Amino acid sequence: APAVIVAIDGPSGTGKSSTSKAVAAQLGLSYLDTGAQYRAITWWMVTNEIDVADPAAVAAAASKPEIVSGTDPLNPTIHVDGTDVAGPIRTQEVTSQVSAVSAVPEVRTRITELQRSIAASAERGIVVEGRDIGTTVLPDADLKIFLTASPEARAARRSGEIKGSDVAATREALLKRDAADSGRKTSPLAKADDAVEVDTTELTLAQVIECVVTLVEEKR
Ligand code: C5P
Repeated sequence: APAVIVAIDGPSGTGKSSTSKAVAAQLGLSYLDTGAQYRAITWWMVTNEIDVADPAAVAAAASKPEIVSGTDPLNPTIHVDGTDVAGPIRTQEVTSQVSAVSAVPEVRTRITELQRSIAASAERGIVVEGRDIGTTVLPDADLKIFLTASPEARAARRSGEIKGSDVAATREALLKRDAADSGRKTSPLAKADDAVEVDTTELTLAQVIECVVTLVEEKR
């Protein structure tokens, strides 16, 4: 079969990562978590004491860190200048600053180029998850999915992943990040015109996976 390119976009807490990894594993495709790349560059900025509230400072440093993503859906990895940052990129500190860093056009240009080259070299095809994959990074993807869910369902899922977290506070933080991601000038979070929207509010993860696998198989 020719390489199939699947773009999965949507806000946080819709099940994007769990769905994308499972679909890729089931179909023997590569997997790319683009949010992890924006988190990795944010981790580097924070670690190197770049003022993330200063877009010019972020832009000037955007090309400095070397970011390497492993694309095995059963073992996705992320390294910055050779350091494994899979743990540190999930901290509250990084999560609260990633929207500011990812809104800087120089950051997006650089990360987008990296994403396109990874997708082009995936021989059997790839599932790429993010916010702007169907609209900007891979507008010619074979299949575009836009996952949604009610704010309540998303907050409950996220809160379940974070030990000791409070659903109301998680909901506020999540809505704030979505508003920033949807409102930015450069490639905001958006549904592509030709994307299939899947509302996951009332679905189990297994049902969402099955739905997406069926849609991919229809394209092959
Ligand atoms: O998906 P995840 O929550 O890990 O994404 C972290 C952040 O990275 C998002 O809130 C957004 O600011 C940024 N992002 C982006 N474009 C993408 C993927 C993620 O701007 N394609």
